[in-house]
Amino acid sequence: MTLLKIAQIGHPVLRQPAAEVTPQQLQSQEVQTFIDDLVETMRDAQGAGLAANQVHVPLRICAIEVKDNPRYPYKPNIPLTVLVNPKLTPLSDETFENYEGCLSVPDLRGVVRRHAELKVEAWDRFGDPIDAVMRGVTAGTFQHECDHLDGKLFLDRVEDPTTLCTWKEFGRQHEAAFRERVIALVEKWGS
Ligand code: NI
Repeated sequence: MTLLKIAQIGHPVLRQPAAEVTPQQLQSQEVQTFIDDLVETMRDAQGAGLAANQVHVPLRICAIEVKDNPRYPYKPNIPLTVLVNPKLTPLSDETFENYEGCLSVPDLRGVVRRHAELKVEAWDRFGDPIDAVMRGVTAGTFQHECDHLDGKLFLDRVEDPTTLCTWKEFGRQHEAAFRERVIALVEKWGS
């Protein structure tokens, strides 16, 4: 396993839409090894997800996993999921406000509006189809990662810049209230 370098905001790779992955590419040893490294890098950095272009590989692949994450102690757990060529379709007009951060945006968090119910269509790392519905906070995580593949950062979706804060000030000023909102969301959506 190799830990990969995570691109930081300002690097153009984060702003370019990533390329579709062909079945041949996905089967290659190179891409399979890359997926192992992407997962390892996400875990090492304690991310809830990591997109391939965040580690300088402009392909439509992202990994998502939440397992008692100390960076996001209020997030519901999500089993390891690798999405290849994902397509997200909102299932309703319902949205919620999510306080997000990103491994490519050091020490900054902000409030982003996300769809509360999504259909997720993708391949898994073996090319088998994924057809799933994600709801609540977990749906927010999926939208954040898939945005990366379109060259978007959560900052682009922050409607109220006064919500922007460092991680330290998030902990001091906003975490308690946000945690209550997350608990309510998890009760409502089950995730
Ligand atoms: Ni991110």
